[in-house]
Amino acid sequence: MKKIAFVTASSGAFGFAIALDLSKKDYIIVLNGRDRVKLEKAKERLCNKELHYIFCFDLTKENLQSELDSFFTLHNLLPNVIIHSLGGKISGDEHPINLDVLSQTMHLNLNISIVINNYFIEKFKDLQEIRKIIHISSSASTTGNASPCYVMSKAALNVYVKNMARRYALEKIMICAILPNIIMHETSDWKDKELNNPEYFNKRVQETPLKEFSRPQQLVPYISAVCEIDSMYATGSLINLQGGV
Ligand SMILES: NC(=O)c1ccc[n+]([C@@H]2O[C@H](COP(=O)([O-])OP(=O)(O)OC[C@H]3O[C@@H](n4cnc5c(N)ncnc54)[C@H](OP(=O)(O)O)[C@@H]3O)[C@@H](O)[C@H]2O)c1
Repeated sequence: MKKIAFVTASSGAFGFAIALDLSKKDYIIVLNGRDRVKLEKAKERLCNKELHYIFCFDLTKENLQSELDSFFTLHNLLPNVIIHSLGGKISGDEHPINLDVLSQTMHLNLNISIVINNYFIEKFKDLQEIRKIIHISSSASTTGNASPCYVMSKAALNVYVKNMARRYALEKIMICAILPNIIMHETSDWKDKELNNPEYFNKRVQETPLKEFSRPQQLVPYISAVCEIDSMYATGSLINLQGGV
């Protein structure tokens, strides 16, 4: 039977690269994003394109849980793997910290994935095979080297992952986080910095041992490997994909 992967924020660059790699490994993908046209185009680019589903929904909306329930019940789908790729920085994320910006950033990077996990975890209990929940965190969550609210929210995410892993290990729910350093792609914030602040951009590149920022294609094989390995032993892991930083 084919496995199902629900990848949030997967019409864009990084989430899409994860979805594409898993489609090559024969997974059925549930794509997510806000823009249906982008999602339809993304679906066309996946392998076995007729097999996949589109959950077109703004995950910041309050009725997330009921929309999840309607969609996954309607299609009779239960993911083997959930990959939380949604995340990022909110405008105004700087010192002194604005509490509204902090609250929105926590919502985007942490709360939404908690709502999604709470919904599925009840359904994962008592299943025989391992189910996996993979969060995309950031290397900046450990170094603090990014905008304040963003790094605080990703650091909270890391601890959430470790705590959840302890609670659900015996129920065969494997939970981990991937910590990439800066990722370059067409919609990355760093594309702007490369154009508008090349001095800073080059300084940050030179700080990396590999003298380059990663591309999604260089990271996604690790994520697919975590999906594929039939073992619980990476549960609670914060997996560094930082190119030696
Ligand atoms: N980029 C980096 O340098 C970097 C470094 C370390 C970690 N990360 C982490 O990696 C993950 C991916 O980041 P990224 O910057 O590469 O993003 P990205 O892949 O460019 O994300 C864009 C995607 O997010 C979707 N999206 C945005 N808001 C949404 C919402 N409210 N509901 C549903 N979908 C939404 C977009 O869909 P629509 O266009 O339809 O809205 C699009 O599919 C994040 O968790 C980020 O924190 C990124």
